[in-house]
Amino acid sequence: MRLLPAFLLLAEALLARAASPANLDPTVDLDTLADNSLFTRWRPRSHFSAPSGWLNDPSGAMYDPKTELYHLFYQFHSNHVDWGNMSWGHATSRDMISWTDVSGWADAEATALGVGPKGTYDALGIFSGSAQPVNLKGEADGTLSIFYTAISYLPTNWIIPYIESTETQAMATSKDGGKTWQKYENNPVIRAPPPGWNVTGWRDPFFLPWPEMDKILQKTEPHYYVIFGSGIRGVGPRIPFYSAPASDLTNWTFHGALFEVARNESWGGDATKTGSFGFNFEVSGVFSLVEEKQHGGDGKTLHYYVTTGSEGGEIPPYHPSGHWALWLEGEMSRRDNGSAQFDIVSSSAADWGNLYAITSFWDPKKKRRVAWGWTPEDMANYGIKAQGFQGAMGLPRELFVKKVHNVQAPATGVPEKSGATWKKDSKGTYTVTTLGARPLPDVLEGLRTGHAIKVADKKLTGQRFIANDKGQKFTGDSFELKASISNIKGGAAGFKIRASPDLEEHTLITFNPATQTISVNRDHSTLMPKFETYAVQGHFAPYTINGKTEALDFHIIVDGSLVEVFVNDRFAITTRVYPSRGDALHIGQYVAKGGEATFKNVKVYSGLKNAWPKRPLDSSSKLRTDTIEETNNGTWWSGN
Ligand SMILES: *[C@@H]1O[C@H](CO)[C@@H](O)[C@H](O)[C@H]1NC(C)=O
Ligand SMILES: *[C@@H]1O[C@H](CO)[C@@H](O)[C@H](O)[C@H]1NC(C)=O
Ligand SMILES: *[C@@H]1O[C@H](CO)[C@@H](O)[C@H](O)[C@H]1NC(C)=O
Ligand SMILES: *[C@@H]1O[C@H](CO)[C@@H](O)[C@H](O)[C@H]1NC(C)=O
Ligand SMILES: *[C@@H]1O[C@H](CO)[C@@H](O)[C@H](O)[C@H]1NC(C)=O
Ligand SMILES: *[C@@H]1O[C@H](CO)[C@@H](O)[C@H](O)[C@H]1NC(C)=O
Repeated sequence: MRLLPAFLLLAEALLARAASPANLDPTVDLDTLADNSLFTRWRPRSHFSAPSGWLNDPSGAMYDPKTELYHLFYQFHSNHVDWGNMSWGHATSRDMISWTDVSGWADAEATALGVGPKGTYDALGIFSGSAQPVNLKGEADGTLSIFYTAISYLPTNWIIPYIESTETQAMATSKDGGKTWQKYENNPVIRAPPPGWNVTGWRDPFFLPWPEMDKILQKTEPHYYVIFGSGIRGVGPRIPFYSAPASDLTNWTFHGALFEVARNESWGGDATKTGSFGFNFEVSGVFSLVEEKQHGGDGKTLHYYVTTGSEGGEIPPYHPSGHWALWLEGEMSRRDNGSAQFDIVSSSAADWGNLYAITSFWDPKKKRRVAWGWTPEDMANYGIKAQGFQGAMGLPRELFVKKVHNVQAPATGVPEKSGATWKKDSKGTYTVTTLGARPLPDVLEGLRTGHAIKVADKKLTGQRFIANDKGQKFTGDSFELKASISNIKGGAAGFKIRASPDLEEHTLITFNPATQTISVNRDHSTLMPKFETYAVQGHFAPYTINGKTEALDFHIIVDGSLVEVFVNDRFAITTRVYPSRGDALHIGQYVAKGGEATFKNVKVYSGLKNAWPKRPLDSSSKLRTDTIEETNNGTWWSGN
């Protein structure tokens, strides 16, 4: 590894965001521009991304104690801006702050595992999966293992009948710390979906050693467990559950579904409050967490969680994609036939925006569960070849049990099936338990370049720009904003970001107490026609504690087109904006007409570091279009 002197790294970080780009003329058709000509314009630089081309699902997240490296793979289609011919791209990091493409950034160099020869079990795709730093006998001898879905037929989609043998489950190992990978000789290790299931899909293995599950299932020797995202046609989405003796990770036994929900069901019956289970699950995960004292817990009680991506449960207008990133908490027990049963107690959206395919891994170095999700572009593919890439990961997030004490029952009553459990205490108030999520604090700290603007606390009506003590407006398309907003009365309050000086372009992020929603209004986020501008929003009900409504601690991270909003460590919304004006770089504090709100501890860290110091800022690769033969006449993928 080549180490750069500190001053060079700093110079590079500043350079990454030096000049603001020229205005884009909204009358110019972006589809007529040269390939990759807009590559750097809105590109997130402080987030995990592919060097170029198409990226989707995070896969194989793990920490290898031998090399002390974090690994993250991703669904990769090099040299193309569309999905197709899926491979695993691969990068590593010492700290999850800066990343290195394992075998280079150009063209397909970042590919770690690609498809097999025509006619073989994984000839049409290496779909998502997971990784563990052990060999196939479960031994920590320095070998790394990955578990992925092998594709032999396409297309596959929950909407269309399933072609038998489309998906099988396969493994691969590396003996050189992840530089090269060898597919297991007896692949696939699971050859068919659960017997009797007419599946809508069956993919994305998530495997883990799990002593707590060994105990529940009364196993006499340690086992590994694997789950998949799946669904039964006409019945509902499912998570099939399997185990293998730790001594043989190729010998998997099916035990049934973890839980059974109906198709298009919503926990509590209102998808606007909890998201939708849809018709098919993808990229699912399962794990247990001990509640920690720092998050209101007792330091010992164990909680069981599932994370999953659901398909088909769109609720227009603000969640039109039909893809939901969900989490569920459940009580885990042993069924008479020896399988595990997960009885749901609470469930909601893990992200209310377009973050999807959330997967997680246990970080043994910092003793925490870390989740990654994929945020696709949201530009309706307009000008996509000029941009030359699609997709990035959100910041890595810590998932934890979040308990809040002494909460008063809401006026409408304690919600029965919601995104939290409410337990009455001896004083008649409640302890509310939910799944907490926050961007990894050490990663955010590591991304800061040092300058912060602090704004004096103020009760505000109307709106004003954030400026430094010399009155110069904050300028930037890469920043972290923290603020606490309380006493929100008479209307919505929040922030305008990516705002031009005359507010012709801006994106409005607010909490509205009347509707109990946090929304990102993109009506004015760009002057370009065709880009998506629908508002994204999610349910957020502030707690009342000791007669006072809690303050909303906003934590907003903006990195080019990528916008992430976290509130009170229990709400997240991710979205994309593509301003056309070069000066859409300001931040405003905002209170709706007739309303008021108190803003405290407003702080902006400007200029986040480049997460990819070894890539050039323009790491684009030449785009190509596949031949008719390569796409089986467009049946397998679209060809560009
Ligand atoms: C698909 O990807 C593999 C490597 O991952 C590559 O060898 C092959 O040429 C690709 N095929 C097409 C049609 O792009
Ligand atoms: C599975 O579902 C498809 C689509 O509805 C149907 O055509 C097929 O007959 C079903 N297969 C079985 C074995 O039930
Ligand atoms: C696979 O594991 C099961 C126990 O889960 C065991 O009974 C069986 O013998 C194993 N099969 C092989 C081929 O080792
Ligand atoms: C165990 O029982 C559950 C609940 O009845 C069932 O769904 C599951 O398929 C069973 N497991 C096996 C392996 O048959
Ligand atoms: C799924 O449920 C939603 C309500 O949450 C409803 O609007 C939609 O029509 C349903 N979709 C289908 C395909 O049944
Ligand atoms: C390819 O698709 C087109 C229309 O989509 C069709 O006209 C043509 O016959 C197809 N060719 C082959 C070889 O299947």
